[in-house]
Amino acid sequence: MRLLGAELVESREILPGQFIQALHAPHLATGSRAGQFVHVRTGDLSGLVLRRPFSINTADPSSGTVTVHFRTVGRGTEWLTRLRPGDPVDVLGPLGRPFEVDARSRHLLLIAGGLGIAGVRMLVDEAIRDGRQVTLLFGAASARDVYPSSLLPDEVEYVVATDDGSLGHGGYVTELVPQYEAWADQGFACGPAPMLAALSRLAATRRQRLGVAKLGRKRGAGRPDQPGSAAARRKAFLQVSMEQNMGCAVGACLGCVVMGASGTPLRVCREGPVFAAEELDWEAGW
Ligand code: FES
Repeated sequence: MRLLGAELVESREILPGQFIQALHAPHLATGSRAGQFVHVRTGDLSGLVLRRPFSINTADPSSGTVTVHFRTVGRGTEWLTRLRPGDPVDVLGPLGRPFEVDARSRHLLLIAGGLGIAGVRMLVDEAIRDGRQVTLLFGAASARDVYPSSLLPDEVEYVVATDDGSLGHGGYVTELVPQYEAWADQGFACGPAPMLAALSRLAATRRQRLGVAKLGRKRGAGRPDQPGSAAARRKAFLQVSMEQNMGCAVGACLGCVVMGASGTPLRVCREGPVFAAEELDWEAGW
């Protein structure tokens, strides 16, 4: 993790109120993994140094650029949209723990709700680079909020659900998951907490419903993985990236805590943002 002097390369409004910004930051472009995030300083307002956490949306080592994808929700993000190419941007990162893909997984099921697409977008590129097949299920309120397919690689199977039925499946994106559960070796999700909780409940009963073996059953059998470890995430069927308000993003303020399944509070910025779904207490209602 480093404090970087990045430079804005491009800013595009891809959906109403949603922007993708490209930053020239070679260290981030080469040193980041899918699931990690950056903490971006958004200007000095009222004497306070304000930063915002953004998932690393894509990373391109050849050009030294990374992108972030955000919605304008207040003064900080509005300030970002006023930046122009060439303007300096103060970025801290990469932060947090990444997604872990088991070497044996060939079929990856990615599930995103709304802006949660930013949490899994980089994993699309990493998986295709590594020769895996990717299906991305995306849920939005209506057609006007649907992430443009033109921003995805051609190799991805992209399936859309809208709450109002104006595009794709009419209903929640979670309703699409049973069609892909048997195909998928692992699932990766980011989006609203109720969506992640529903996916976690599906994942918890998947083995019994489908009668499938658990990844890691042979390797290290009988030797439990340390909760929160990369190995534990790698063996989980479902990993989730938590979207939580953050203050410091370095583990000091406890402003981002979620409850672990063992009753231990977990900091999204340090122990996350990516967790094995079974690591979290989904009844805690954060
Ligand atoms: S944001 Fe401060 S501990 Fe996570």
